Parts: sequence; C-alpha cells; structure tokens
Amino acid sequence: MTLPTTNNVGIPVASDNDSLTVGANGPILLQDHYLIEKNAQFNRERVPERVVHAKGGGAHGFLEVTEDVSQFTKAALFQPGVRTESLARFSSVAGENGSPDTWRDPRGFAVKFYTSEGNYDLVGNNTPVFFIRDPIKFPDFIHSQKRRADNHLRDHDIQWDFWTLRPESAHQVTWLMGDRGIPSNWREMDGFGSHTYLWENAGGEKFWVKYHFKTDQGIGYLPQADADRIAGEDSDYYIRDLFKNIKQGNHPSWTLYVQVMPYAEAADYRFNPFDLTKVWPKGDYPLIKVGRWVLDRNPANYFAEIEQAAFEPSNLVPGIGPSPDKMLQGRLFAYPDAHRYRIGANYTQLPVNAPKSPVNSYSRDGAMRYNNPGDPVYAPNSYGGPHASAEIASETASGYGVEDEVIRSAYKLHAEDDDFGQPGTLVRDVMDDAQRERLANNIIGHASNDVSRPVLERVFEYWRNVDKDLGDKVADAFRE
Ligand code: HEM
Repeated sequence: MTLPTTNNVGIPVASDNDSLTVGANGPILLQDHYLIEKNAQFNRERVPERVVHAKGGGAHGFLEVTEDVSQFTKAALFQPGVRTESLARFSSVAGENGSPDTWRDPRGFAVKFYTSEGNYDLVGNNTPVFFIRDPIKFPDFIHSQKRRADNHLRDHDIQWDFWTLRPESAHQVTWLMGDRGIPSNWREMDGFGSHTYLWENAGGEKFWVKYHFKTDQGIGYLPQADADRIAGEDSDYYIRDLFKNIKQGNHPSWTLYVQVMPYAEAADYRFNPFDLTKVWPKGDYPLIKVGRWVLDRNPANYFAEIEQAAFEPSNLVPGIGPSPDKMLQGRLFAYPDAHRYRIGANYTQLPVNAPKSPVNSYSRDGAMRYNNPGDPVYAPNSYGGPHASAEIASETASGYGVEDEVIRSAYKLHAEDDDFGQPGTLVRDVMDDAQRERLANNIIGHASNDVSRPVLERVFEYWRNVDKDLGDKVADAFRE
C-alpha cells in the first residue's frame, strides 16, 4: 500500500503536483499552507558547511580491543575484549562541500567512539604531523589555502608564500606533496591522532601516547595525472568508493596502535614530544597494538548522520586527557564552538552526536531542545541531583604539572628540534627513489601555477633546507 503524503505534522495533503489556484490558470492562494511549508522548508535545507573539512563522507562501525593495554589506561573503551560502536568521517581540508575528492590535500580522519563513559572523539588526519605548531596561526594558514579576497580563486602563490614564511610547515608539506597527498581512496590510507595525549591507568600512573590507525587494505595513492582526470570525471570518487565497498560487504578495517612514552621521559626527549610538527621515531617508541577498527554500516541518511556529525577533540573520557600541545589546546575550544554555530546549541541531542551512555547534565533549554532535565536545575542542591566527582572525570588525567610565567613564546627547543631535520629524514631515509621522484615532480607541478619569482626563490631555499638534492632539482626546473 502506498503511504499518503502528509505535511510536517502528519496531516494528509491533497496533491504532490498542483498548487491551490483560482481556476486552472489562476493565481496561487496564500491558503495553500502545504505549498508554503514545502518551499519554506526547502529554503532552510542547508546548514553552514564546515569552515574546513567541508567535503567528506563517512560510515558506522566498531572498535574491538584485541590486546591488553590496561597497564597504560583505565579508559573503559580500551580494556581487553571491549567492543565499542563508532562513527567515522573522512574529508579533505581546503575545498568546499562539493569540491573534487581527489584534489591534493591532507585527509581528515575523524572518529567517534560511543563508549560506556560518554563519547570519545579522535579527530585526526591521514598524516601524523601538521603545518603549524601554535593555534594563533590556524586562521592565517587556512586563509592561505582557501580562496583569495579579490578574485575568489585559490592561489598557489599565497600557499607557498605562507608555507615558506613558516618553516615549521616543511614536514607536513613533504607529506602533502608526496604520495600521501592524494590517497587512492579513504580505505587505503592510515589515520593518526597526530597530537600527543595523556593516558592514565587505574593506579594513577601517567603516559604520553600517540595513536596510529594502520589500514588493513594497504596504502594506496593516485599519481597526480590520474587524480586530475578523476577530479573531472567523478568529483565524489572517494564517497562512492567507501559507500560501494561497505554496501558490497567489503568492510574496511584498520589496526589501532599506540606509541607510549613514560610520563617522565617527555622533559628530556630529543624532540619536543608535544610539537605537532614532529613524529616520535618508532625506534624510540615502537607501535603497541590495541585492536581492530572496522567500518561495516553505511549511513541511511547522509545529512543526519554525516553532515550533522560533530566531532570534538575535547570529548575525552576518564583515563584520557589532553597534553600541553598548544595546537590541541586551541582545538579543545574550536570544535564545540564551531558546532554551536554550524548546527545549533543543542547539537549533542541529535542521534548521531548523542552518547549511548546516560547524560546527567545541568544544561537546559535553547533552540530545538527536546530532552530537558527536570528539577533540581542547579548544583549543588540538596534534592538528589547529580554531583560531579574529580575521581572519575577525565580531568584527573590532565594534571601534568605546570608552573611558569605567563608569556607569549615559541616552544623551548629540545636537543634535536629544528624544522627541517624530520622532513629531511622522511625524504632521504623513508622514501624510495620513485617516491622521491614523484615528490619532486609534485612540488614542481604545484609551484608552476602562477607563483611569483620572490616566492619561488624561497620555495627553492625551503626544499634545499629539507634536502639539498631535492631543492636543487626543484630550482633546476624553474631555471630561466
Ligand atoms: C574540522 C578547527 C587543527 C582535523 C575543523 C573545524 C574547525 C577546526 C573549526 C570544523 C568543525 C565543524 O564545523 O564540524 C581547527 C583548529 C585547529 C585545527 C582551530 C588548530 C588550532 C586540526 C588538526 C587536525 C584537524 C591538527 C588533525 C590532526 C580536523 C578534522 C576535521 C576538522 C578531521 C573534520 C571533522 C569532521 O569530519 O567533522 N577543524 N582545526 N584539525 N579538523 Fe580541525
């Protein structure tokens, strides 16, 4: 039986096709409230796109902890054998909603875990490092990647201008210009929490950790020419790939690992362990396996489950805390603030964002609130309302002992901190000849798009600082 069409409050409507008019050719009546509801609703269909990472797709799945890492964290989701429902959203960064999936860009790797202790979000990328190390530069950095003010075009001159003026970008730009800058699809890329986080075990012992999701599908990349062709043929190439594979039962999975640094080792480690432009070499801190993360269910409704998904690095559960990474500190503020603007004050009540554990919060009211706490409406109270406990809160894991002057300053350097050492190692020791060749060609191709001579000179210098041969090769390609 066909269901009758109704309006938004369930009243059956008379026609899907014809407005209410005075005679067949006559004007439309204001009385046609269904016509008005339908068009008014349509005018309000869009929420603002994400200011970054606007284009993306995602799926549902689960994390299964196969190993025992309880000596490092008491977080319930990481205890042996625990299985936790999860949501993923993959994205590109600088393009708008609708831009081609295969443009060169880092890829967002946002994961939500619906744990028994509230939602835990790991909002990372497919690269372990980032372009900058202080959140005060984030809007500037993004402005250099997005469209210009005058002609509304993206502009490689301003991109290289910013990157070469901020040498700490070199490590991430090396990843970006290499194969990882255009994955073959979202299934064949790794994910990284990127920041350093604090873990605390049941005995109160603390550790610094970094997260790695290693793809079980194997790493894949697209050569620039293929990516350019696909951008024209199918701008939704990655969304299609993920949806199709999950639908066919080919569920992508990743093995989750952590690197664990004993708490006291951070102070004298050869790199600043909180600097987001650095990795911890695996020779120093090997990967420790945690479990298996699988995506096995497509969204039934993209807007409700993916567009309205709200990931936030500040969603940390007991046993997990932030570190003094300045970028992470900035992000703890940025995301919930963005969600209140983009989706609305009560975004956590939407099914995709609501935890699957009880909410006993004192927050109330506001636009579109439908699940409101009753009395008592304040704390403390003597009427049996919830009360907070430092013993169980994730803030117990944020006591990393800070006592210093209030100043504006770059990080203090550790023994081997510089901007070019790690990207140089990546180029010389990690990449093979073919990868180095593609890296050089990608840089040359990218910088060949209307980059001014003074900026180009800095581009050569920047790459010579990373690796002399690479810089010379780039410079040779532009010899006049
Ligand atoms: C999205 C801010 C650095 C990964 C966003 C959004 C904002 C933002 C405002 C949009 C949120 C929304 O409307 O839903 C910042 C700031 C940063 C920063 C201020 C630095 C200070 C990073 C870093 C990473 C990252 C270092 C990865 C390691 C992501 C991802 C998304 C995102 C994956 C998309 C989440 C989703 O799929 O909904 N960021 N970001 N961001 N950011 Fe950042």
